Amino acid sequence: MCGIIGYVGTGVGKDGDDAASDGGTIDGVGAIVHKGLRNLEYRGYDSAGVALVGESSGLTVAKRSGEVDGLTVPDVPDATHGVGHTRWSTHGPPTDANAHPHTDCAGDVAVVHNGIVENYEELKAELSDHEFTSDTDTEVIPHLIEEELAGASDEDGEGGDLLAAVRNVEDRLVGSYAICAVREGDDRIVVARRGSPLVLGRGEDAAFVASDVTAFLEHTRDVTYLEDGDVAALEAGDVSIFHHGEPVERAVETVSWEADAAEKGGYEHYMRKEIHEQPSSLRQTLAGRLDVDAGDVDLDVSFPPGFLADLEEIRIVACGTSYYAGRYAAQLFEELAGVRATVEIASEYEFGAGRTPDRTLVVAVTQSGETADTLGAVRRANAAGARTFAVTNTLGSTVTREVDGTAFIRAGPEIGVAATKTFASQVATLAMLAVAVGRDRGALGAADARSVLDDLRGLPGAVQQVLDEEAQVREAAREYQDSEAFFFVGRALGVPVALEGALKLKEISYDHAEGFAAGELKHGPLALVTPETPVLAVLTDGARANETMNNVTEAQTRGAPALGCVSEGEEFGTLDVSFEVPDVGVVEPIVANVYLQLFAYHVANEKGRSIDKPRNLAKSVTVE
Ligand code: AGP
Ligand code: GLU
Repeated sequence: MCGIIGYVGTGVGKDGDDAASDGGTIDGVGAIVHKGLRNLEYRGYDSAGVALVGESSGLTVAKRSGEVDGLTVPDVPDATHGVGHTRWSTHGPPTDANAHPHTDCAGDVAVVHNGIVENYEELKAELSDHEFTSDTDTEVIPHLIEEELAGASDEDGEGGDLLAAVRNVEDRLVGSYAICAVREGDDRIVVARRGSPLVLGRGEDAAFVASDVTAFLEHTRDVTYLEDGDVAALEAGDVSIFHHGEPVERAVETVSWEADAAEKGGYEHYMRKEIHEQPSSLRQTLAGRLDVDAGDVDLDVSFPPGFLADLEEIRIVACGTSYYAGRYAAQLFEELAGVRATVEIASEYEFGAGRTPDRTLVVAVTQSGETADTLGAVRRANAAGARTFAVTNTLGSTVTREVDGTAFIRAGPEIGVAATKTFASQVATLAMLAVAVGRDRGALGAADARSVLDDLRGLPGAVQQVLDEEAQVREAAREYQDSEAFFFVGRALGVPVALEGALKLKEISYDHAEGFAAGELKHGPLALVTPETPVLAVLTDGARANETMNNVTEAQTRGAPALGCVSEGEEFGTLDVSFEVPDVGVVEPIVANVYLQLFAYHVANEKGRSIDKPRNLAKSVTVE
């Protein structure tokens, strides 16, 4: 799930304006590509590399294992275009040799790739007279292009055409890919997409291509999302797109995210910035969608007449944090919409016997919209004939093209690998969807709907109140950071929050942390409890606080310290630490979760962990 970027143009002024307005102090092609790679590093950071093409300097490649900052981009003053790559390895360890770009035997063609070429062994066998220098699947691509160019050159005597070569090579690849290719002596970047994201940025005298808009957002907000099967040629200020060999027009859309929304804005880590952004990201999520007085929501989604009334089941499919948001939402769908709701880990999902496709709504929850496991589940649901729906943060992402309807969570870009603000916005969006479905089905009366919407309206302010208590959380993190393990518990809506709290801590601190339904502690996990294993509990509205507290007491009796997130006005005197949660009813556990996010952050920060880029992980997991 690498990040790729390409740029063709004359460079930009160092303040981000066009080159001319900056009196000649310009960032050249190499600097623009390098900067873009930094913004893409959340997609992978095993290695980084660039290929720059200049009129007289030809093709220059630099690459090495490790993070983008460790890469020295060569100074190529006459560079007119270039591509870059930051890798999350799938085939071959993260070594210098396996870093992208990969080149052909002659060193004339360079390719960066995101995805997996499934038939690479077969293709490599066919290319036995080529010299391979890496273990990657990717390397077959430049060699196949070399073959195409050589074949065409025999025919036209002119060295062949890069665009035609990429088109032909594309036909031979099985798997998923987004690729960018450059060639010495050619002033274009040729790109192709199938199954991995690729978006074009359109400038007046420049063109960009990247896995994600954050790579070039400071230069242009006019973008075109490529479709699967598209091949495009980028020249300075001009882009031609082809589909099955025919020229096609694709819409230019304007991205409303500000470039600085993707930067750290004074925080030491993106994760802490994103935790603190939650009041504003939640306001964006809710903006214009709540009609509290009428007890209704406007999510701008529609279903065929009668579909919701006849609905038999909502099945939510997702991974990781999105899966926990789904577990929260399933309880809301049952309670508010009066419909059976189940949640499945996307990689485990099958449509299954005894279910009725035309009375099932499969809801994929995915921040990135690119998670391969979730896309696989959507495809299985589509194949079974079910109606599919996505809840995502990412406009133009693959999932949005494969489902019947989408609700965007509008949380803005999330760069930290650990999901924080998007979890809150996913739950808020799903809660609105539950109200909309409940109202449509006549399962939810106006007064009850008003009460839920009022809770949602109070969510941003309640989260701000928790953020104002960060010093208390930091102190607790310092006190308990050296514990042997951490257990998170809750009941009802507190269960997904406990699971999410544990995931957050283990992801970024590398400490052992587990979440449990509180009632389950006594059925086994209690054997793990010692004075060295603090228990963190969700003790709010919606989380059956009193019963949960009984289980916490059982752990305390065995010596475990106990920390609890407690509803305003309630008190559990035996807790070692009590975090107060403002009163927002059905979304209170989401507010409690902000304490758990801060706890994970401060434990990891005290230990000096790589918070935004935890070891072994990547933000967007585009392999199954
Ligand atoms: C969350 O902190 C994780 N890094 C991870 O579990 C993530 O939520 C999961 O990979 C799903 O991603 P998605 O929402 O983009 O589909
Ligand atoms: N398969 C390629 C490699 O291992 C690209 C990996 C990816 O996009 O995740 O280098």
